[in-house]
Amino acid sequence: MTVHIDVARTIATINPALHGHFVEFLGECIDGGIWVGPESTVPNTGGVRTAVLEALRELEPPIIRFPGGCYADTYHWRDGIGPREQRPTTFNENFGTFELDDHGFGTDEFLQLCETVGAEAWLNVNTMSGSVAEMRDWMEYVNREQGTSLAAERAANGHAAPYDVRRWGIGNEPWAGGGTMTAQGYAELYRAYASAMPRFTADILEPSRVLPIAAGPDGNKPLERVRWTQDFFAALAEYRVPPLGGYDLHFYNWNIGHDGDTSETFEREGWDRLIAGSLELEEVILEQHRLVREGLTALPAPESDFFTAEPTIDLVVGEWGNWHGDAFAARPALRQQVTMRDAITTALTLDVLQRNADKVSMACNAQLVNVLNALLLTEGEHTVRTANFDVFMMYKAHRGAQALEVSGAPDGVHVFASLSEDGALTIDLVNADLDGARKVELSFAVPTELLEIETLAADEPTACNTVERPDPIRRSVSRLDRAAATAHGVTLPAGSVSVLRARAVGA
Ligand code: AHR
Repeated sequence: MTVHIDVARTIATINPALHGHFVEFLGECIDGGIWVGPESTVPNTGGVRTAVLEALRELEPPIIRFPGGCYADTYHWRDGIGPREQRPTTFNENFGTFELDDHGFGTDEFLQLCETVGAEAWLNVNTMSGSVAEMRDWMEYVNREQGTSLAAERAANGHAAPYDVRRWGIGNEPWAGGGTMTAQGYAELYRAYASAMPRFTADILEPSRVLPIAAGPDGNKPLERVRWTQDFFAALAEYRVPPLGGYDLHFYNWNIGHDGDTSETFEREGWDRLIAGSLELEEVILEQHRLVREGLTALPAPESDFFTAEPTIDLVVGEWGNWHGDAFAARPALRQQVTMRDAITTALTLDVLQRNADKVSMACNAQLVNVLNALLLTEGEHTVRTANFDVFMMYKAHRGAQALEVSGAPDGVHVFASLSEDGALTIDLVNADLDGARKVELSFAVPTELLEIETLAADEPTACNTVERPDPIRRSVSRLDRAAATAHGVTLPAGSVSVLRARAVGA
């Protein structure tokens, strides 16, 4: 089979936020991973582990979600501001973390880290043990420019300028740990929080500078997720519509209940199963996009001609990644290794998101450091870049580019392509087949030069990067320098991720 690529067949602009990340007070994601504190013997920059900071500077994450996850629903932002020695110590039971929580890393530390690495922040509000008033105070502390007491408190804590955080999540997974609610019950709660958000605008006619993000469904529950979205929008349709910003579904590629299959040990069957599992996200996105559209259409028209804008909401995948069974028993909590299998599913997931750039606008890998589908693993003073880190680095060129329609990929090979404004054509080629190298024929609608190919492959499917052996899975670039033609063949190693950098010269 021949893969067809036509730079004129565009789908939509790939929102850079599709390459987002998630950090939570869980296991050693933040405490011990990102944050070691200024007194630590681990090399750090103002308390942030320097090796993590350096990696993030290279990665340039477009968005980072904080402080959870489930943790967000018990988090009181005031515990994490002001002089560190005066911050309270609490106990973190989140997902078996079972550690003292000294709140050394809080709102200012997180938002300044985002500023340093050029990431937008997404803050998640506590709707379980918090209140609308607590949310409003947090928003005022973070975003108010005028000289209020909370703005003055932020200035006293070292940041005079407002942070201008736009995205605010309202609760987390209300269908489970976030309250085991009904969609109707959550819709009522959402109405109150979304309506109470300050706008941070110069005048009342300007659109609000903040976007509330509603909790969408559990993407892993085929029946419940349909009902959740239908019921949530039906509840919103009962009366006038609150502010809408985003709708956040979560989808994990579960790997539990398969004897002997862990993050580090698996057979061929486990490889194939996880690859198929990661691709299921596409079905969820298509289904949820349809349901959200239907839900929006059924919302009542306002009985006045003052607010006439059509309601819109962005579909978001706020948490995604592989979740292996061994993570549950791991110490620190939810830590798992990242093998070539995870790198393949990470690449395939990013391709699903990018290919659906017309339907989904933001997504966060769970999580950035030491938890689940991590990009970085730390151990004492050591920091290892996992194979997932390489995948995200290889895919950077897609951010802000036009997703292209691609057809004709042979079985076991997955292809995605995008065209950047500067004419760069970037083609992802994932050979998910372990049986051997695959030659793929590419046909282009216009003559295209192939410049180079970057490849991530391993000697063994179970290979992973560790402190002792940090680089068994590391990307490498080969120059191709192939003259413009409408047909090219490339060979992909077994179980590998490649990114082809090309240029359409006849466009
Ligand atoms: O990412 C780990 C946990 O998974 C998050 O806290 C929660 O939102 C989800 O269930």
